Amino acid sequence: MNIVALISGRGSNLEAIIKGINEKKIKGKISLVISNKKNARGLQIASNYGIKSKFLDPSLHTTRESYDLELIETIKKENPDLIVLAGYMRVLTDSFIDAFKNRIINIHPSLIPAFQGLKAQKQALEFGVKFTGCTVHFVTKELDSGPIIIQAVVPITPEDNEETISEKILHYEHRIYPQAIKWISDNRVIQKKRQVIVKNAKYGCIPVNPELEDF
Ligand code: GRF
Repeated sequence: MNIVALISGRGSNLEAIIKGINEKKIKGKISLVISNKKNARGLQIASNYGIKSKFLDPSLHTTRESYDLELIETIKKENPDLIVLAGYMRVLTDSFIDAFKNRIINIHPSLIPAFQGLKAQKQALEFGVKFTGCTVHFVTKELDSGPIIIQAVVPITPEDNEETISEKILHYEHRIYPQAIKWISDNRVIQKKRQVIVKNAKYGCIPVNPELEDF
C-alpha cells in the first residue's frame, strides 16, 4: 500500500505510523510527506527516516483552489492508495476530496461528532464533558465528520488542563492511527455509507472500539 502523508507541524502521528511500517505491522510505505509549513518538525522526522518530503508553499497561490490543484498534481504522481492527514491544519477543497474519494483518512482529537474543528481538547474541557478521546475517520467534504473507523475514549478529571488532556489523548492517537492504517493495508476495512466495519475485529470494547490488535 502506497501512502502519502500531509502534515503541518510536530509530526508525532507521522512518526507512530512510520514505526508501524518499519516494524512490519503495516504493509505499505510512505512515498511522500507534504507539509504546508516550511518549518514543520514532521519534515525533519521524514528526513530522519529517509522518506521523501516536500514543502508546498501556500503563499505562492492566491486561492485555496489553486493550492489544492498543485497538491493534487503532486500527490497523483505518487499514485497513492491512501492519503493520511497527520495534523494537516488546512481545510481541503471539494476538488481535493473528489480527486481521492474514499482514500483520505484523518485523526481528530475528540470523539466526533463532538468538538469538530480547532482546539478540540480545549473545547471538551470548556464544555465540561467527562469523557473525550480521539477518532480516525474517512475524510468527506464536511469538516471532521466522515465515517468513523475507530475511536478511543479518555476520561477527564477536575485536575486536567489542556496540556494534560492533550497528552492523554495523544497516547491513544499514536495507537489508533497506525492500527486503522494496518487494517486498511490488510483489506479489512469495509465502508457502507456511514458505517465502517473492520472485518473480524472485536467490537464492544472500552477504551478503544474496535479493540486494538497490534499497537
Ligand atoms: C493531533 O492532535 C491530531 O489529532 C490533530 O493534530 C495533532 C497533530 O499532532 N489532527 P502531530 O503533528 O501528529 O504530532
